[in-house]
Amino acid sequence: MSTEAIYLDYAATTPVEPAVAARMAEVLAMRLGNASANHASGHAAHALIETARAQVAALVGADAADIVFTSGATESNNLAITGTARLGLARGAAHVVTLATEHKSVLEAVRALERQGIAATVLRPDSAGLLAPEVLAAALLPETCLVSLLHVNNETGVAQDIPALAAVCAARNVPLHVDAAQSAGKLPLNLDGIALLSFTAHKLGGPQGIGALWVAPAHRGRIAPQMLGGAQERGLRAGTLAAHQIVGFGLAAEIAAARQASEAARLVMLRERLWSGLADLPGVLRNGRPGAAHILNVSFTGVEGESLFTSLPMLMLSTGSACNSQSGEPSFVLRALGRDSEQAQSSLRFSLGHGTTEAEIDSAIAAVRAAHARLWNASPARLLPSGAKGEWWVGEAGAERLGTWVRIALSAPGGTVREARFQVYGCPHVAAVCNLLQQRLPGRPLAALAPGTPEEWRTTVGAPVEKLGRFLIIEDALAALTRSPS
Ligand SMILES: Cc1ncc(COP(=O)(O)O)c(C=O)c1O
Repeated sequence: MSTEAIYLDYAATTPVEPAVAARMAEVLAMRLGNASANHASGHAAHALIETARAQVAALVGADAADIVFTSGATESNNLAITGTARLGLARGAAHVVTLATEHKSVLEAVRALERQGIAATVLRPDSAGLLAPEVLAAALLPETCLVSLLHVNNETGVAQDIPALAAVCAARNVPLHVDAAQSAGKLPLNLDGIALLSFTAHKLGGPQGIGALWVAPAHRGRIAPQMLGGAQERGLRAGTLAAHQIVGFGLAAEIAAARQASEAARLVMLRERLWSGLADLPGVLRNGRPGAAHILNVSFTGVEGESLFTSLPMLMLSTGSACNSQSGEPSFVLRALGRDSEQAQSSLRFSLGHGTTEAEIDSAIAAVRAAHARLWNASPARLLPSGAKGEWWVGEAGAERLGTWVRIALSAPGGTVREARFQVYGCPHVAAVCNLLQQRLPGRPLAALAPGTPEEWRTTVGAPVEKLGRFLIIEDALAALTRSPS
């Protein structure tokens, strides 16, 4: 296995394409003026920006005139949602619809609107992560002024059927905003029926801190700027345009567009190779219907995600989304798909990109399997049948570093042991005593559990007297059997 760290976090951000970085450095060194200035170096900046605007527009099949540069998809989402809903409120149309699995920049913007008196409907996806068109149709009200939906989910890669959802909105004359941060340059998308589209450079090989909102011509008068000041971007987003960022975005968009089809096919192959390398592990679940080629989200039930993550320092990936990993909360996206909090907490997101190779995928599989085997061995889930919650008593004692560790699980309906299971770390004598107890425990009442004493066990298995201390640990595990079921 390679010892070099492997980057599998392309959904959080992609490394900047070398050609993009080089071009940005060139532009920075040009001593350009302000693109709004009416002199030669201002005109030069303006010309570079307009070329990049055309490249960015071409990526999503739009007209350059309808692209508004922002600082990223977070700002684009805020502008689209808040800018549209505020004007809606002024006309008496004060209702927005979105999905529970949206990016936080959408959900938080919607929450802020609610505090300002705008009603919101937050729909739940089905267990595959999808929103059915009829569910959306049922949520639309006469006063709905905006629907905001994610194309590709950043945690699971689930891709919504945007054309079908856009048709529902168009039939009711409700503008649709699509957050395409994870799909632009990766999955084709037709703009028919869409009013607003957010995307960002740093998910497709461009620099961080620059994004775009595409505003359909018909939606122009229905969105208010959120950043006030100069008249840049046709009055929709004030602020001096960052020529080097925009040029980098433009070139990254052009490169991504040129390799979109071949990359998608290659990444699907790698994603499925990764999944087949993990799918047979006990407790493993794939989260969400496979959508975008670059994301695989897996729950390792029975193993704590953070422990798995920290045992994989050679893999750069995320537990849940990068945003959630800071809060340590179980992913709200996986919870919305019906995963319980244990399953949501045990998830890893692998996200692949242009630099990902087959050899990296194979190394990642080997690393995850090795770390999983270690954690699974010590996991109570290994001991208990699945769905056994509430029926088993579990007790443990000792520690690996002390040379002996024992976990005992008992099924004891009505207070009498029906079955005993053991997990053991220690010498063969400890294992022999656990085997003995496994046979002796069934039929015993929980109230008088211990079948014999450590000294008697020692003589029965023929262990030397100096092993007695280890058998006391087994006795401790029996004593520690929790009073309440697991
Ligand atoms: C789906 C989605 N929307 C919005 C964003 C925010 O993008 P940015 O980092 O450009 O603000 C991200 C990135 O994390 C994302 O994945």
